Amino acid sequence: MTKKTAIITGAGTGIGAATAELLAAEGWKVVLAGRTKDSLDSVAGKINAAGGEAIAQVCDVLNEDDVKALIVAAGDRLDALIHSAGQGHCLTIDELSLEEWQQTLDVSVTGAFLTAKYALPLMRATKDGEGHIIQIGSLASGGTWYLEVGYGTAKGAQIKFALHLESQMKVDFEAGGRKINVFSVCPGTTDTPFWDRIPQREAVPELTLAASEIAWMVGEVIKKPDTNAEELKAIKPRAEIVIQRQAPFERWDNVVAIKHESHG
Ligand SMILES: NC(=O)c1ccc[n+]([C@@H]2O[C@H](COP(=O)([O-])OP(=O)(O)OC[C@H]3O[C@@H](n4cnc5c(N)ncnc54)[C@H](OP(=O)(O)O)[C@@H]3O)[C@@H](O)[C@H]2O)c1
Repeated sequence: MTKKTAIITGAGTGIGAATAELLAAEGWKVVLAGRTKDSLDSVAGKINAAGGEAIAQVCDVLNEDDVKALIVAAGDRLDALIHSAGQGHCLTIDELSLEEWQQTLDVSVTGAFLTAKYALPLMRATKDGEGHIIQIGSLASGGTWYLEVGYGTAKGAQIKFALHLESQMKVDFEAGGRKINVFSVCPGTTDTPFWDRIPQREAVPELTLAASEIAWMVGEVIKKPDTNAEELKAIKPRAEIVIQRQAPFERWDNVVAIKHESHG
């Protein structure tokens, strides 16, 4: 039997790279997607050198042909799709250009749509166990802040996409299809290259989460897809981590926030 296989977008850096490393260490074959070949090759090289199985696939999640090729690169089975590709900014509406607005919205939302749309046929056809689609949202998915009019709108829409998709996956399962779980992990400030393009704020390592801590939550959600904020809080890897239901999506178990205690 071939290894369980996960596609991870945004896997050349940050949360996506940490998630790929964690899943590969747990025995998954991982397919790494992003636009920059060098960073994908570097993460894949590290995983393969450690005895794991990683494939680097250059893919802009906004390019339909790239996304189709990404699914082909996964091979004959697909068990998880983790959409971590994203970009952020801290800008008011007056400062925000149309280009930045569209790019931020597109990578979060259109990227989530395209990757799920083309992953689903292979994920459904894989009959061994359950499938998982996990969105890396943000505290900004639910919060309101004057410098996140673009980013917060994009990350909020990404969670709504996930919730609508989940309702279809339930209908499909009831009709005899593979059980495919949909979950949104919503991090607070995390120390990654995300902040390199945002001069207005910085991630202070002692006051933020590490990418590996977001990856930890993804790993736990895959192991126990019907988990919730309360269960995850009970097993958090260090005291300074706060795990809670993500407002205003509290009524859904499958939308969970994770942040450093210093994050208001
Ligand atoms: N860091 C934080 O504080 C934080 C907090 C909350 C939520 N998040 C979310 O976490 C996710 C991961 O971010 P991160 O912190 O790990 O930052 P990151 O290191 O900048 O990772 C984002 C990745 O997305 C990739 N990407 C961007 N546009 C893409 C596209 N069109 N197609 C394919 N890949 C694309 C980038 O690679 P290429 O440029 O090579 O394509 C990059 O590797 C994002 O969705 C972000 O919104 C981050």
